[in-house]
Amino acid sequence: MKFYIDEANVASIQTIFKLGIFSGITTNPTILKNNGGSPLQTIKSLLEKFEGDVFVQCTSEDVSDIVKEGKALNSLEPKKVILKIPFYPDGIRAAKTLVDKGIRVTLTGIHTFSQTVVSSVVGVDYIAPYVNRMENGGISIETVLKMQKFLEDEKSKTKIIAASFKNLQQLEKVMSYNVYAVTAPVALYKLLFENALTEKAIRNFNSDWKQIDKKEWVI
Ligand code: G3P
Repeated sequence: MKFYIDEANVASIQTIFKLGIFSGITTNPTILKNNGGSPLQTIKSLLEKFEGDVFVQCTSEDVSDIVKEGKALNSLEPKKVILKIPFYPDGIRAAKTLVDKGIRVTLTGIHTFSQTVVSSVVGVDYIAPYVNRMENGGISIETVLKMQKFLEDEKSKTKIIAASFKNLQQLEKVMSYNVYAVTAPVALYKLLFENALTEKAIRNFNSDWKQIDKKEWVI
């Protein structure tokens, strides 16, 4: 499984990127707006400062503009940029054109099983189901498991990068479906390291170690 960071603030990302478990960063217009400043400069800094993929969303609204924008975004750094395009008719048509040109595309804003099937037929590399928004909209989180099973059974090229997480329960549930990747904000990842039982075990190890009369050790 891959982990991506779903935010664009360089200083915030730097606090956990050094863990070495992240495959890159996912962004969208809301994330870029919340980060402030020039969206282009933000994307350029993410590309420059961090190893791995940077997902960037096309913001145009009709097919030819999305294709033009997608090519331009991809050319910023073709090996690192992966496009995101929202799931709607013009987006799907543009996604197909870009995929046919060998550019990696994610169809984003996925909330249903049937959108997954369509995305697989389009042949995009990734889909981004919005887990918290699905739950808020009364769509069971288990739909992500159905999506995963369908893509596996089809031996589809399309893989799931699950997004829109608001708590650890959602994250853990979707991770248990063995999706290709999850993406979440820094604050949510930090909660992975806040476990009372693990912290207690570490305290005990440290305390016991201090009580040993150590004549020799490796360091
Ligand atoms: O990557 C998609 C994600 O940013 C959407 O999350 O929290 O706006 O539902 P949210």
